[in-house]
Amino acid sequence: MRNVIEVKDLTREFAVRHRPNMVAVDGISFDVREGEIFGLLGPNGAGKTTTIKMLSTLLYPTSGIANVLGYDVTDNRTIMELRQKINVVSGGERGLYYRLTAKQNLEFFSDLYGIPKAEQKKRCEELLEMVGLSHVSDIRVEDFSRGMKQRLHIARALVNDPEVLYLDEPTIGLDPEISRSIRETVKKLSDSGKTIILTTHYMYEAEELCDRMVILSHGKVVGYGTVGEIKDMVSDTSVVHILTDRDPADVLKTLESDPEITGMMTCMVGGRYDTRFSYISGTPDPHAHEEAFRPYGIRTIGLDEPTLEDAYIRLTGGECQ
Ligand SMILES: Nc1ncnc2c1ncn2[C@@H]1O[C@H](COP(=O)(O)OP(=O)(O)O)[C@@H](O)[C@H]1O
Ligand SMILES: [Mg+2]
Repeated sequence: MRNVIEVKDLTREFAVRHRPNMVAVDGISFDVREGEIFGLLGPNGAGKTTTIKMLSTLLYPTSGIANVLGYDVTDNRTIMELRQKINVVSGGERGLYYRLTAKQNLEFFSDLYGIPKAEQKKRCEELLEMVGLSHVSDIRVEDFSRGMKQRLHIARALVNDPEVLYLDEPTIGLDPEISRSIRETVKKLSDSGKTIILTTHYMYEAEELCDRMVILSHGKVVGYGTVGEIKDMVSDTSVVHILTDRDPADVLKTLESDPEITGMMTCMVGGRYDTRFSYISGTPDPHAHEEAFRPYGIRTIGLDEPTLEDAYIRLTGGECQ
């Protein structure tokens, strides 16, 4: 399958006053294949947005190579041609005209891309239909909820029918129901043949959507491949999994000093506390923890295979966000 994006040793530094340059993206390399949903994962500050900006020609790399659809992103002679074939959706509120209706916004952006008026009407109607906003097409964006705005952002990014679509944290800050509908839209877009680059720090989102992914940490690639391949990178990890009635935070504090244990986390599942922690090597005996956890009301205790989230925490050095 054809590579749509080829990135080699890509680096971006930012000048910081009175300090050495900040290296936001540090020599990353990966390829994206035609039609893939490709994930750029990593904690806040890992370099995801900086990478998207370079791949969408909004920011010049300090060094390295990035080719998108066969165009060098730094070649000024072809940059406008490339921009016709790509588009970007960023999380957040900016980038729409609030005093205009949904339809007027799409018409405005269609004008910017030089789409003939005769074509615009039909195309804008189709896009509003695709993102589920047909019924509010004549309402001003200032009256839209965040979820509706985000759906309009996606429609806006489709006016030029891009071959490559960058989605930078498209569900950040949205409630679960709306996030799910955005993920469904992403799948529809992928089914229609577009190549999608998606940044996220939600592992379930990556697991549900992405064919392959890179995991970034401090500007470097620390994982690359399918979900299965990334889990294989941490196959020496064993995960102890304990479900309790009450919050075992105090026990976890005592485990923090154990050098063999990494990536501890507890989350609420169905009103109970679901705790996971990883041993980097060897096969631990989960029952060795039984006594310490007993006061918190153990429901289940055992060993588990590492999930993508466990792998992510291990590869990014334990940062959860
Ligand atoms: N314009 C800028 N000037 C200085 N530092 C920046 C600039 N943009 C981003 N950075 C820094 O680069 C790092 C990566 O940022 P970013 O690419 O936004 O990460 P992410 O999207 O993964 O959260 C961060 O430490 C951030 O503070
Ligand atoms: Mg970002």
